[in-house]
Amino acid sequence: MSTASRRLIIAGNWKMHTDVVDGASLVAEVVECTASLALAADLVLCPPFTHLAVAATQLSRSSISLGAQNMHQAPEGAYTGEVSARMLLTSGCRYVILGHSERRTYFDETNHSVNEKVKSAIAAGLTPILCVGETLQDREAGRTEQVVDEQVRQGLSDTKPESAEDLVLAYEPVWAIGTGRVATPDQADRVHGHLRTVIADMYDDDFASRIRIQYGGSVKPENAGALMSRPHIDGALVGGASLDASSFEAIVRAGLGFDGG
Ligand code: 13P
Repeated sequence: MSTASRRLIIAGNWKMHTDVVDGASLVAEVVECTASLALAADLVLCPPFTHLAVAATQLSRSSISLGAQNMHQAPEGAYTGEVSARMLLTSGCRYVILGHSERRTYFDETNHSVNEKVKSAIAAGLTPILCVGETLQDREAGRTEQVVDEQVRQGLSDTKPESAEDLVLAYEPVWAIGTGRVATPDQADRVHGHLRTVIADMYDDDFASRIRIQYGGSVKPENAGALMSRPHIDGALVGGASLDASSFEAIVRAGLGFDGG
């Protein structure tokens, strides 16, 4: 498998944080402090649904993209409280996070339902950010590769994105999310390398060498540089630290190897 040089993709997953007013301020701050960086890496903000329309207008003059945190698999229908791929697309989203471990844990999402969502997102023209990751119990039992292997194979079953730019993977070990306990660059890179071999097996070597795999789980300015300097780590999916514009900026800088980190 050749080692194509891949452009970093760094996304902020705001989860259920900020109200609409604070969210708009945060978008404005991020736009301002990453203005010179947004050309060197793909930056994505994933605020709550209620913020999307305003954020889309704010981001329209920047090179930062907009993403959502979830969607329903059906194109439309009687699904009270749900949001479709097309609704996200026409709200200005380019990306959608799917299969986040919090969705799997608190909302009973399975590899099967995640797969339905991935197919529907791709069909609508959204780029899924498919999240996979093992629990602490899985890791301690030596099942990390098996778990992420299943999540990727089942999550992407019957899909063939047109190009590797139309799909992003995020490796987020559950034990590292919101815990301050980050995977070491070696631990993360090993799993990313494994994911690339799974993708090569499912699609082909060229696709596998191009697909971008983010790391997520307690990414901070202090650890971002070491993580993103690893050969298989092509960016970050940042939770808590993305709620502060200067931390997000510092993570992007560190990822690009500019300073700090
Ligand atoms: P933290 O960066 O807060 O650990 O969250 C990671 C995450 O879940 C991003 O999707």
